Amino acid sequence: MSQGCWIIVGGAYGDEGKGKIISYLALKENPAIAVRGGVGPNAGHTVVYGGKTLKLRMLPCGVVNEQTQLLLGAGVLIDPKVFLKEVQETASSSRTKVDGNCAIIEEKHIERDREGFLKNVIGTTGTGTGPANSERILRLGKLARDDDRLREYLDDVSLRINSALDRKELVLVEGTQGTLLSLYHGDYPYVTSKDVSASGICSDVGIGPKRVDEVVIVFKSYTTRVGSGSLDGELTPEETMNRGWQEFGSVTGRLRRAAPFNYKLAKKSIILNSGTMIALTKLDTLFPAASHVHEFERLPAEARAFVNDMEAEVATPVVYIGTGPDAEDIIERRVSSRKW
Ligand code: IMP
Ligand code: MG
Repeated sequence: MSQGCWIIVGGAYGDEGKGKIISYLALKENPAIAVRGGVGPNAGHTVVYGGKTLKLRMLPCGVVNEQTQLLLGAGVLIDPKVFLKEVQETASSSRTKVDGNCAIIEEKHIERDREGFLKNVIGTTGTGTGPANSERILRLGKLARDDDRLREYLDDVSLRINSALDRKELVLVEGTQGTLLSLYHGDYPYVTSKDVSASGICSDVGIGPKRVDEVVIVFKSYTTRVGSGSLDGELTPEETMNRGWQEFGSVTGRLRRAAPFNYKLAKKSIILNSGTMIALTKLDTLFPAASHVHEFERLPAEARAFVNDMEAEVATPVVYIGTGPDAEDIIERRVSSRKW
């Protein structure tokens, strides 16, 4: 069993398949804690396990392991309605806690996110996260500790995580969105409302940089983007369909824009996150013969070449390879517990 602090971060524009990788790690590595950082319910993480599909906007994807404690870090915005619905649907209230300092999304934030500049120019998810974060920065936002609906879930999340790490337990720290949507490092203004790189995620959940043992950076085998902003090599919607790369936003239902994998941006993303390993998802979409394969040697030769070229190009090991939607459709290329 692995131990220490593992961060899982999106390497591109969100929707890299973080949910799938996190749910696999949660089942395989049996973490004591899965804690969510990132922005808030603008994210939609899809988890397919045991014949069920979950679309999580608030809870950590570690929910698939019933032994794992579920936490939301202080930096995360909570939409109490979405949160309570997910807790109920997953029957996870006894193992879920949120930091009292999480800020709350109110109706007025959602309304403001669905009009004017944010809707028409940026193309936000319309979930209220940008307006709620701006109000928080003005020191006018409401916090979880002031919201009666969340009373039974309140805790000091940073303390819980740091104590678990002191006990040498495994903590999975889940990011949302992707590095290229970072408020600081992305192509402003076509970005989300905070920094979503690994450093930002540490701050969200309350751990210092020296606590981190592994940074798993998740890339999809091709690039997608929803909303406005640049996308190098963007395909037409017809070409996207022809290649079978069409995807629809899990929060917004929008057809995602698509382009081939971008090495230049991948390298930048690895640097920004100090990624220690790559999880590459949806290899089966590029190479259908890779579907449900569990051993690297059984992949078609072109698929192996794609992975080997990527490793050489970005000088980071591709440790996990997704070969289908289920949490267990994965190739793991070497034991993950390297250092301990
Ligand atoms: P916001 O985060 O809703 O303010 O949206 C800002 C930009 O980030 C828009 O282009 C959104 O489409 C994009 N975005 C936000 N969250 C996600 C996500 O989870 N996946 C993909 N794109 C996202
Ligand atoms: Mg998503």
